[in-house]
Amino acid sequence: MKSMHLWRNARLATLAGTEPWGWVERGALLVDGQQLHWVGAEADLPAGLSVAEEHDLGGALVTPGLVDCHTHLVYGGQRAREFELRLQGASYEDIARAGGGIRATVAATRAASDAQLFASAEARARTLMAEGVTTLEIKSGYGLSAEHEARCLRVARRLGRVLPLTVKTTCLSAHALPPEFEDRADDYVAAVCDWLPALQAEGLVDAVDAFCESIGFTPAQTRRVFEAAQRLGLPVKLHAEQLSDCGGAALAAGFGALSCDHLEHLSSDGVRAMAAAGTVAVLLPGAYYFLRETKLPPVQALRDAGVPIALASDHNPGSSPGLSLLLMLNMGCTLFRLTPEEALRGVAVNGARALGLADRGTLQTGQRADFAVWDLEHPNELSYWFGHNPCRRVIAGGQETNP
Ligand code: NIG
Ligand code: FE
Repeated sequence: MKSMHLWRNARLATLAGTEPWGWVERGALLVDGQQLHWVGAEADLPAGLSVAEEHDLGGALVTPGLVDCHTHLVYGGQRAREFELRLQGASYEDIARAGGGIRATVAATRAASDAQLFASAEARARTLMAEGVTTLEIKSGYGLSAEHEARCLRVARRLGRVLPLTVKTTCLSAHALPPEFEDRADDYVAAVCDWLPALQAEGLVDAVDAFCESIGFTPAQTRRVFEAAQRLGLPVKLHAEQLSDCGGAALAAGFGALSCDHLEHLSSDGVRAMAAAGTVAVLLPGAYYFLRETKLPPVQALRDAGVPIALASDHNPGSSPGLSLLLMLNMGCTLFRLTPEEALRGVAVNGARALGLADRGTLQTGQRADFAVWDLEHPNELSYWFGHNPCRRVIAGGQETNP
């Protein structure tokens, strides 16, 4: 007979089944190693179990561990001066075209040591984890050379080894044009396609992303990056229709993209293509807020088409320097008019799906034992409070992370 851990006297938002929130009023979770062996009402607990340890949660709210499926966590420096310039009227695009923006962070990242990159990213990851995050995606894209992209991805991988956290890495080498390729975007794209196999061979890449935009890469260049990913069997995702409609979402959907992210300028053709491909829409209210955008993503069209909606922090030093996924739930509701239940699903099951992960995001038998315990009465409060952290305990892979 197995020795399991029993977590009981919990109010469960399982996000599974047909009840709103997958609600179980007086629930229990049986954890066997890293997995959920059984989830349900305490009254229905199977008999004859050998329970090694019992944890009484005192009626606290339990949700799946949160998934932040879009971050740029590894970088050097900060861009507060650009924030001031934008407040004085400069646009994000003006600053980028003048050599600031992403390129400024590339210079600071290249100048930082591995230890500095690791220490700053670790502190950021721990801040996210304190709010219940158990799975985190980290993109490269501030190295922009074979050497520096690899360095950043190694830091991301090491975070996943050192912290009680699942880290999925995404290669975003097609993020901006590095200075040594000035006016040679096609040559840079060819270089990215050339270095991708080595990054993959080193086990550094779970997915490939690009920034398809007037200040990023054209659809034709994005296609070449995706073709290189496809040759290696790597899934793709895309920064699409953030500042304008370039048709990036439909292009990415044609490659079976896991997700298209941002999407404020998404067209109805883009929505249709994403629905047909099963591509997740990752909405990033932090960037919308911080860049003071006014064009809303087409949330109702996405809902009507049955496109799964995720929410993420997009943590980065230029467009979204925040480190609170809970704040993104609040902004997802206030700014984008998601329901609180959609917002929670967006940082749980749909966030997982945006990373190609089917083993987490709900509390169900067979899922990974990632869950968060909250000092809250109802899951709608996760989207309601902002600026304070009601997370009491975090369990990742069956282990308490903050004992
Ligand atoms: O997701 N849009 C492109 N990339 C980032 C911003 C990068 C930066 O400004 O440093 C984003 O918003
Ligand atoms: Fe981003």
